[in-house]
Amino acid sequence: MKPTNSVYTGLPTTIFEEMSRLAIAHKAVNLGQGFPDVDGPEDIRKKAAEALIEGPNQYPPMLGVMALREAVAANWKRFHNLEVDPVNEVLITSGATEALSDAINALIEPGDEVVMIEPLYDCYLPLVKRAGGIPKLVRVTPPDWALDSDELARAFSPKTKALLLNNPHNPAAKVYSREELKLLADLVIRHDAYVIADEVYEHIVFDGVRHISMLSLPGMRERTVAIGSAGKSFSFTGWKVGYATAAPALLDPIAKAHQFTTFTTPPDLQKAVAYGLAKDERYFADLANGLQEKRDRLAKDCASLGLGVIPCQGTYFLTLDMKSLGMDGDDAALARKMTVEAGVTSVPVSAFYVAQAPKTFLRLCFSKRDSVLDEAVERMRRWLAAAGRKVA
Ligand SMILES: Cc1ncc(COP(=O)(O)O)c(C=O)c1O
Repeated sequence: MKPTNSVYTGLPTTIFEEMSRLAIAHKAVNLGQGFPDVDGPEDIRKKAAEALIEGPNQYPPMLGVMALREAVAANWKRFHNLEVDPVNEVLITSGATEALSDAINALIEPGDEVVMIEPLYDCYLPLVKRAGGIPKLVRVTPPDWALDSDELARAFSPKTKALLLNNPHNPAAKVYSREELKLLADLVIRHDAYVIADEVYEHIVFDGVRHISMLSLPGMRERTVAIGSAGKSFSFTGWKVGYATAAPALLDPIAKAHQFTTFTTPPDLQKAVAYGLAKDERYFADLANGLQEKRDRLAKDCASLGLGVIPCQGTYFLTLDMKSLGMDGDDAALARKMTVEAGVTSVPVSAFYVAQAPKTFLRLCFSKRDSVLDEAVERMRRWLAAAGRKVA
């Protein structure tokens, strides 16, 4: 038989899948999986149920239900003071993942270079490669995840077509500052490139810091497609409702890619998300504050076990430095060992790098009930104590 496509053929089982299977086998508390263990607001779910019964349940408009496109535009005004035309500048997709795929397929020609910042969210590399793009990787590493401006400048060239930027960043939990965004924007403008801005954690930022969208930076309105997700903003990761916002000329080819990928997204879920996006400021503040409390709870408890806790500015992921355990060499082996021996599952941060990854860091998801976080810490405490380590 002729070979199937080389990008996907033979891809190994991801570490995410492996860790989840191991968690089930060992009845571990799974803080590896990046999703909330409690569903989002009931009133939004009720809206979806009502819409499902009332119908129509037929193909909605290709660009999305108008009420949701208007709600997305209204949120740009509310949170970023940006004027967005809901008719020509907003596209509703089946999750942010579909929006990323549409944007990459619409923008990238074979041979185009795409600048990306490691650690990388898992779908970026295969999608860019499948589109024929050439990844140009720039690294940030813990504990400070600082951008090296020289390395960054070297990654850009006349062949750069796009910067694919995740902000707030999973797994680094880094929220880019205005200065960093300006540095990136200057390079993008100088090389006449685009930005695919994955901003799915836009509402999950802590300590009073505001998320700054690449779309709002001077000169970036025409060359940025910003991508959001109801999965993250409302804790409905299974709904897969995403939204892309871009200037009409940029959105047009992205909408064409969407037209031939999924064409639409379930209308009842779109109507419910439109209702959710219209919630008052308090909902969005509570989302961030609730998760900030969980971050602080887990961070404090992990520090009391003698583990290194890397600062977390946004998203719902906390990075632990396990050097104090003398485990420097293989974070994947440590993640397996901790699942089997302690009954707590994480994801090794090296899984987000292509090569030469830092090897002592584990990512924990704290978007879980307090009792689940406490149980995980208690298990780690017993495990470390049994190994003869001093724990508070
Ligand atoms: C950085 C990032 N981008 C995109 C996604 C996917 O979002 P969606 O579920 O809306 O496709 C995720 C989900 O974990 C993510 O962490």
